[in-house]
Amino acid sequence: MQESHKRVQWVYESTDDKELEDRYDQWAADYDNDLAAEFAWNAPQNATAVFVKHVDKAAHVLDAGAGTGLVGECLAEAGYKDLVAMDLSQGMLDEAKSKNVYNDFHQMALGGSLDFATDEFDAVISVGVFTQGHAPANSFDELVRITKPGGLIVFSLRTDVYESAGFNEQQSGMEASGAWQLAEMTDEFQPMAKGEPEVWHRIWAYRVN
Ligand SMILES: C[S@@+](CC[C@H](N)C(=O)[O-])C[C@H]1O[C@@H](n2cnc3c(N)ncnc32)[C@H](O)[C@@H]1O
Repeated sequence: MQESHKRVQWVYESTDDKELEDRYDQWAADYDNDLAAEFAWNAPQNATAVFVKHVDKAAHVLDAGAGTGLVGECLAEAGYKDLVAMDLSQGMLDEAKSKNVYNDFHQMALGGSLDFATDEFDAVISVGVFTQGHAPANSFDELVRITKPGGLIVFSLRTDVYESAGFNEQQSGMEASGAWQLAEMTDEFQPMAKGEPEVWHRIWAYRVN
C-alpha cells in the first residue's frame, strides 16, 4: 500500500479524539499533497458549489474541521472574506494559517460544547469531518446553536456513515423537532476517486430555524 493510502487508513482507525488529533498533527505537512494531489479530493469544491447558492458573500462563516484550509481557499476564491477556522488539530490549523484566507483560528472539538456565542455565525461549512471515526452526529446540536436563525449549515457526509453512525436519526430528528430544514442534498459522488473509489459522500445543506 502507498504511504498516502496508509495514512488515510491510519486516521480512520483512531480510537479517540486524542489519537485522531495526534495523527492529524503528524499528517498536517503532507496532507495537501496526499489528499488533494494524489487522491483527487474534491469535496471542498463540491461543498463550495452548494454553499454559494445559499449564502451571501458578506456572511460571517465558520469552517468547522477546517484542516489545512482547502475549503477556505475555495470560499475565498468564490468571494467570501469573513472566514473563521476551527479544528481538533493545532498542526492542521498551523498549515491553514499559511493560506492567508481565515481571519481567526480556534482549536476545538465538535461533539462537545463549542466556545462560540449563540447565533454567532451566518453560516457553517464542514467538509471531510463527518466520516469514519471522526466527528459524531450530535455535533449538529451545537452547530445549530451557534448559527443564526435563517443561516445555513453545509457539510459533506459519507453515505455509509450516514446509516451506521446515527446521522440518519440525528438529522431527521432535528427536522422533526423544528431545529432545521433541508435546503439541498446532492447526489452521491466519489470524493477521492483516485485513492478510495469505494467511498461515497453527499453534500447536505440545512437552513436553521
Ligand atoms: C479529512 S480532514 C478535512 C479537512 C478539510 N475540511 C478539507 O476538506 O480538506 C478532517 C479534519 O477534521 C478534523 N476533525 C476530526 N474530528 C474533529 C472533531 N471532532 N472536531 C473538530 N475537527 C475534527 C481533523 O483534525 C481534520 O483536520
